This record gives sequence, structure tokens and C-alpha cells, in this order.
Amino acid sequence: MMCSYCDKPVFYRRRYSGENLCKKHFIKSIEGKVRKNISRYLGKYKRIGLAVSGGKDSLVMAYIVNNLVKPGGPHIYGLIVDEGISGYRDKSIEFAKQLLDDLKIPYVIGAMKEYLYVNIDDVMEIADSPLPCTFCGVFRRRVLEILGRKNKIEVIFTGHNASDISETILLNVLQGNIKHLIMQMEPNNGFIPRIYPLHNLIEQEIVLYAYLRKINYYDNPCPYARYALRSEVRNFLSDMEWRHPGITFNILRLGEKLKIEYGRQLKLKACSKCGYPTSSKICKTCELLETLDKLKKLNIR
Ligand code: FES
Ligand code: ZN
Ligand code: ZN
Repeated sequence: MMCSYCDKPVFYRRRYSGENLCKKHFIKSIEGKVRKNISRYLGKYKRIGLAVSGGKDSLVMAYIVNNLVKPGGPHIYGLIVDEGISGYRDKSIEFAKQLLDDLKIPYVIGAMKEYLYVNIDDVMEIADSPLPCTFCGVFRRRVLEILGRKNKIEVIFTGHNASDISETILLNVLQGNIKHLIMQMEPNNGFIPRIYPLHNLIEQEIVLYAYLRKINYYDNPCPYARYALRSEVRNFLSDMEWRHPGITFNILRLGEKLKIEYGRQLKLKACSKCGYPTSSKICKTCELLETLDKLKKLNIR
């Protein structure tokens, strides 16, 4: 079989669009999509933060964004959050540092323990259940925001791909979480804006791109992933995408439509404890930190 755009042999068959792509046109298509996703932001912002973990998504993102930034363009900085998951994040950070060093992208590392006085290993000690991912997601987001503010970052790019985003939508459905399905943050809400340059790439294509570009990434799952409903949803979705190509994008479109049709803008105010923007009296970070404090006092494990 031949490439849809030249006479080279097919390397990848994009089943959801019917395209056959040789290696060159596969790379061109991936980089073209990312360029389209971010070119307006490259012109708008002077200081861009790249949230980098050492996994395939964030490293592929850093690699492509770095190639797209022209001399005289915005400054890019790696923002690495160390969640304190021993045997996992310490290892993946080494991969992040390696690529950022190779690309000569300056970076900062922020330890969750340093900013929130607790890390995810501690969370597991204190509260074996509920799931560490709830804490991990909320705390990581906060540390990233702190790192961004400290470094005067105007926008943060993260490596979320189409598969991740559709997983989140489906998770919210399964958990009956209507608020998260339809809520929209008001613009200029006080947080540094977040952009997903890989939002229309499926996981499999990112793996292939990393392979072709010889991007060395950390490929082991978080040791706490077994606790997560997300892992089950991920397996289900990747199976569905394989059997019904394009289903990931259907879910993404559903998520967008729900926000447009039924979306409500959240009014944010300052958290009464930490001052960060929130829709409640106290923010989720402070609420979870309080929960941990209470559990510690009760000595519940
Ligand atoms: Fe949930 Fe790592 S804390 S997967
Ligand atoms: Zn080709
Ligand atoms: Zn707070």
C-alpha cells in the first residue's frame, strides 16, 4: 500500500480518517496539527511554560513546541512537578531533564512537599483510601500554578492528548459529575491559562511519533494507578477506539457540545484560606489539605 500523499510505502494507517501515511507524511501531519493548535499562542505570549513529567506526551509536546519556536519568538521554560512518588516520579524526572537539557530549554523543578508540606507517598500513608489521584491531580495543578507564577509564565502548555481528554469526559459521566461536564471558567479568572497542544492527537500516534523522533521517555505507569477508575476507562476507550476508529473524537465533540449548550460560567472568588481563585468558600487544595490534617489527627490509616 502507498502513502496517500506520495509514492512511499505506508507506515501508519490513520483509521479514523482513512489516510495512509509514510513516515515523512506521518511526522509532517503530527507537527502540522500541533502547529495549527498553538501558532496563535506563540505570537501572543512572551513566556511560555511547558509542564513536563518525563512521559511520552509531555516530552513529545516539548520537542515539537521547541521546534516551532523561532529565534526572537517566545521564551519557553520547562516546569516539572515532583509529586513525591518514590520509584516513579524520581525516575521519570530524569528523562524530562535529559530531553530539556538536550534541547537547551531551561527548567525548574517544584517539589509538592516543599510547597504543600505533603506529597503523594504521604497521602497514601495518611489516607489509604480515598484515591490518591484526587489529591495528586489537585495538588499537582496547584504546584504547577505556583511554579508558573514564580517564573512569570503567561501560559502553560500541558501534554494532555485526545485520549486523556475523552477519558476525563467519560469519567465525569460515569461519576455523574455534571458540574465538571458543563462548567466553564470565566476568562481572566486569575489562573495562568492552560493550553493542550496535543488535544487532537490520539495516544497511539504520540507513541509512534516518539519512536520515529527517537524521544526517550519514561514508560512505566504510576504505582497508584491500580486504584484509579481512570485506568479502567482508559483500557475500555482504547479498545473501543481500536474497534470503532474515531470514537475518541466523538466523545471530545460531545464534551464541547455539552459546554456550549448547557455550559455555565463559574464565578470565582478568592479562597478564604490561601487566596487562590475558587468557586467555593475554600478551594479544593485547602479542602483536601484539611481532610488530610483531620485524618492525621484521628490517626486513621
Ligand atoms: Fe493516581 Fe498516580 S496518583 S495514577
Ligand atoms: Zn508520503
Ligand atoms: Zn485555598
